[in-house]
Amino acid sequence: MNNNRICKLLGIRYPIIQAPMNWITGAELAAAVSNAGGLGTIGINAGAKTITRDIDETAERLRQQIRKVKSLTKEPFAVNFPVWMESKDEETGHAFSRRCVEVALEEGIKIAVTTTGSPNIYTKRFKEAGVKVLHSISFAKHAIKAEELGVDAVICEGTEAGGHTALNGLTTFVLIPMTADAVKIPVIAGGGIADARGIVAAMALGADGVYLGTRFIASNECDAHPKVKEAVIKCSDTGTIGIDKWMMEARDLKNDFTSKFQQLREAGKSDEAMEMMIKLPMYQGLVVGDIVEGEVPCGQNAGMIKDILSAQDIISNIIQNIPSIMEEVKIRLS
Ligand SMILES: Cc1cc2nc3c(=O)[nH]c(=O)nc-3n(C[C@H](O)[C@H](O)[C@H](O)COP(=O)(O)O)c2cc1C
Repeated sequence: MNNNRICKLLGIRYPIIQAPMNWITGAELAAAVSNAGGLGTIGINAGAKTITRDIDETAERLRQQIRKVKSLTKEPFAVNFPVWMESKDEETGHAFSRRCVEVALEEGIKIAVTTTGSPNIYTKRFKEAGVKVLHSISFAKHAIKAEELGVDAVICEGTEAGGHTALNGLTTFVLIPMTADAVKIPVIAGGGIADARGIVAAMALGADGVYLGTRFIASNECDAHPKVKEAVIKCSDTGTIGIDKWMMEARDLKNDFTSKFQQLREAGKSDEAMEMMIKLPMYQGLVVGDIVEGEVPCGQNAGMIKDILSAQDIISNIIQNIPSIMEEVKIRLS
């Protein structure tokens, strides 16, 4: 795809980006995606076998993951920096900090995916170091600000996406054209995309690339617990729910955790709901495999994912099926 703006920007063969998913998107998955022609992304706690709130330990673990990806692929890859934790690390000991950015720069990363926060925080630092910045947004107007600040491409994420999005309820289907109309930089579509139909639809709406999370949970190389992968491929069309985490929505698999959390939120028991979050239920869900009491972020598209495949097969299936989907579209429009 030589003319594609994302392929040109990032030096990749196909405009398919594997979205970061914290603990479960480690070096093996990122390298497998990059070797298959997409862009692999390391999650911020990739490779963690225990919970730590130590900033240096987190940063050094990230360094090892970056080195590991480099040993597994010569192709470009990215690293995720969830911005919102930046301001909190001093007071709460959140396992993320500015230190991770510095370590990643020391290791010479070329592409950063900044998410859940303002593009103001890290874009300048990355751009000065010659790093390409992809920044996620859930409002079209935020894309304009990102472009002004020098971001290279925006990722627009609708409410159907697994993990955190804004509480505005905008879907990927409306966010892509509004964002494509708002900015000149390339637009990457995230949320609800799992196959060739999704990529063709996203491109028709004005996207230059796609960003897939949940599809890659059900991959051989993903570090999610096997019970999580099974739960994704068994998920029904209504098997996920968006829960209100104060400033954000989190889309998760429906389970005892989401019911209890929602009940506390609806009853106004914010302190008890916060207590649940402090225990890091996402680690319990994704890594330990407690898919009942733990939190398992998951997109609505899980309802259409039926198999656990290699990252290579996920990407080649999408690419191979694009021509027939395009033909079908032409027939339907004729
Ligand atoms: C299990 C899981 C964990 C996630 N963790 C992160 C994360 O650490 N950082 C982040 O920016 N987004 C995270 N996300 C959101 C994804 O990067 C991406 O936006 C989303 O999965 C795209 O939508 P899809 O799941 O419909 O493909 C996570 C999503 C899932 C499903």
